Amino acid sequence: MSSHVDKRFEDKVIMVTGATSGLGKHAAVAFAAAGANVVAAGRREEEGAQTLTEMRATGGRGVFVTADVSKSADVAKIVETAQREFGGLDLAYNVAGIAGEAWTKLADYDEDTWDQIININLTGMFLCMKHAIPAMLKRGGGAIVNMSSVAGLGGTPGGVGYVASKHAIVGLTKAAALDYADQNIRINALAPGVIYTEMLEWGMTQTPGLEEEMRALHPIGRLGRMEEVTKAAMWLLSEDASFTTGATFAIDGGYLAR
Ligand SMILES: NC(=O)c1ccc[n+]([C@@H]2O[C@H](COP(=O)([O-])OP(=O)(O)OC[C@H]3O[C@@H](n4cnc5c(N)ncnc54)[C@H](O)[C@@H]3O)[C@@H](O)[C@H]2O)c1
Repeated sequence: MSSHVDKRFEDKVIMVTGATSGLGKHAAVAFAAAGANVVAAGRREEEGAQTLTEMRATGGRGVFVTADVSKSADVAKIVETAQREFGGLDLAYNVAGIAGEAWTKLADYDEDTWDQIININLTGMFLCMKHAIPAMLKRGGGAIVNMSSVAGLGGTPGGVGYVASKHAIVGLTKAAALDYADQNIRINALAPGVIYTEMLEWGMTQTPGLEEEMRALHPIGRLGRMEEVTKAAMWLLSEDASFTTGATFAIDGGYLAR
């Protein structure tokens, strides 16, 4: 191996939720490649096994835990696994989230969907931090990145549950960061614009014109790439971001700048 291989997370232990697909899976593999011990978590076992295969193919170390982030006992299991398998927890990348209903105005928005999206997107983040922070304090500190969205900094029509949950993550991140700023735990959030994932690619093949419509929202003139989000998370979770806490960063090709 050349000396240029990025191993900046060697000896760090990280939990990554939503690691069965998309941005979470991409990050789990990238952190494993960068030397971290990765506890990848998600609900789907088969997809989790695939994530594990890809993590190990990089030469990295990892395990997969089947867990629903909206259930406290499941989240506790993620942290316990980190402690049992790798001796503790240093970092958390809380990615798991759902989109809920799109294109539905508030008065028609289904109440069960509202409960579900708040339970997963918001309570899930709260529970991940609630269980991860005591483990990080035992190691003398840590860093956390929570996944918000451009929909966490600006409104979009037709998806009140998603927009409300992603805005709440921005506030949750600020308040949590202040709680632990003097205990060496930094907590930040990311607000990506529309990022190419397998699922999005599939959706675009189903809906002609959707890609152009989405591209037009980003002044840079294209959608984001998964590695552009993962690299931002890596910066925030590394010592390079040692003076950064309570912030939410747009990774959005200028989407929010207009
Ligand atoms: N792709 C984008 O354009 C984009 C933009 C902004 C924000 N985001 C956010 O990034 C995150 C990942 O999205 P993605 O695009 O990779 O989509 P995705 O659907 O591929 O990833 C979401 C992952 O979270 C998992 N998940 C859902 N509910 C869960 C639960 N209760 N417990 C555990 N895991 C659960 C899913 O199984 C999936 O693996 C989400 O929070 C999403 O809101 C995505």
